[in-house]
Amino acid sequence: MAIFVLLIAAALIACALPSEAAGPSPNQIKRLVTFGDSYSDVVLAGDNGTAWPIWTAIYGDFTLYPFARAGATCSQSLTPRVFPPVFQSQLPTYFAEVANHSISVPPEETVYTLWIGTNDVGVGELIDGQQNPGVTLVDTIQCKMDWITTLYETGARNFIMQNMLNLQDVILYQADSYPNKYWTAERNTSEWHIFMTELVASANKLTELMLKDLAPTLPGAHIGLFDSHKLFTDIHNNPSKYLNGTVPFNVTGAISSCVYPLNSNISAVTPDCTNAEGSAQDSYLWFDELHPSQQSDRVLARELTAGIKQQSSEFLTWLT
Ligand SMILES: *[C@@H]1O[C@H](CO)[C@@H](O)[C@H](O)[C@H]1NC(C)=O
Ligand SMILES: *[C@@H]1O[C@H](CO)[C@@H](O)[C@H](O)[C@H]1NC(C)=O
Ligand SMILES: *[C@@H]1O[C@H](CO)[C@@H](O)[C@H](O)[C@H]1NC(C)=O
Ligand SMILES: *[C@@H]1O[C@H](CO)[C@@H](O)[C@H](O)[C@H]1NC(C)=O
Ligand SMILES: *[C@@H]1O[C@H](CO)[C@@H](O)[C@H](O)[C@H]1NC(C)=O
Ligand SMILES: *[C@@H]1O[C@H](CO)[C@@H](O)[C@H](O)[C@H]1NC(C)=O
Repeated sequence: MAIFVLLIAAALIACALPSEAAGPSPNQIKRLVTFGDSYSDVVLAGDNGTAWPIWTAIYGDFTLYPFARAGATCSQSLTPRVFPPVFQSQLPTYFAEVANHSISVPPEETVYTLWIGTNDVGVGELIDGQQNPGVTLVDTIQCKMDWITTLYETGARNFIMQNMLNLQDVILYQADSYPNKYWTAERNTSEWHIFMTELVASANKLTELMLKDLAPTLPGAHIGLFDSHKLFTDIHNNPSKYLNGTVPFNVTGAISSCVYPLNSNISAVTPDCTNAEGSAQDSYLWFDELHPSQQSDRVLARELTAGIKQQSSEFLTWLT
């Protein structure tokens, strides 16, 4: 009898769960806290203009607390660099600011975003084997999950994980790449292109599976996955849907394109640069050999805002 009652109770719970709405309600979110690398840095903006977190705050009418910093990886203990990593710098700064009340983050109305990985897999790390010994892609993705649990334990409840964009399409990792400010040494560009395609696809699948594993273990949390890869691939393949500058669409080159001599010291030589100016810039997918353009960032902000406000589920999927 008791077992029977339990079974009925379990069945009722199983029926009740799917009807619980995934994601915050449309007007619930008022504050945006961002973590990541130069793609999201609002001071050293990768697009050399206004970074997407600022556009998102404008479009969504959110108060913005930006912690992402150029050059960052997820953790210094996995993929060490001289730039401020999420775990050893950005999170401690966030916690210090919460503690001294310079920011206010009521759990219900605050959403946290993380867009990281470009530097973890990129030059100086996984692609050329300079991560700490034994560290793999699995560890760098686990680190992103640890970011969620670390914040959850301190009360945070709304999270958006932004997956990696199609890095194989940025100039640095194209098969016909040229020596640029991020890498002037000799390399096999075809090999890098192939390897980066694999790294990004694997990282994004791991992220999705590990998030789906983690989400049900965090009661009361809303966890969303923003598909940057799908969005930037779509801009790449269908630029007319997104780009709006005054010259023909350009999804292979950069607004600021600078060719360096092979094997040169970038601080000691003058590169050969071609720059697109003014309204022509909005025809470009990329700003330089590694970063999205400002128009790409506006599109990202528009789609992210629509996902947060539950007006579109094209790129943002709420798992819980
Ligand atoms: C609060 O902490 C942050 C991060 O350590 C620091 O930059 C800021 O100056 C502090 N503000 C106050 C009012 O103490
Ligand atoms: C570069 O890598 C590609 C793809 O693996 C390979 O086909 C090609 O032979 C390599 N080129 C050189 C010069 O090693
Ligand atoms: C795109 O921009 C790059 C860099 O300025 C240039 O070399 C290339 O010719 C452009 N491509 C098209 C299709 O306009
Ligand atoms: C980058 O931004 C600065 C400041 O607005 C500007 O002077 C510079 O021309 C921009 N670079 C390019 C390549 O547009
Ligand atoms: C690169 O050039 C800068 C400026 O000339 C110089 O200070 C630095 O030592 C050089 N680095 C290397 C590795 O040669
Ligand atoms: C392109 O569209 C954005 C809005 O997404 C707008 O802010 C920008 O001014 C437009 N660019 C041009 C050159 O019209």
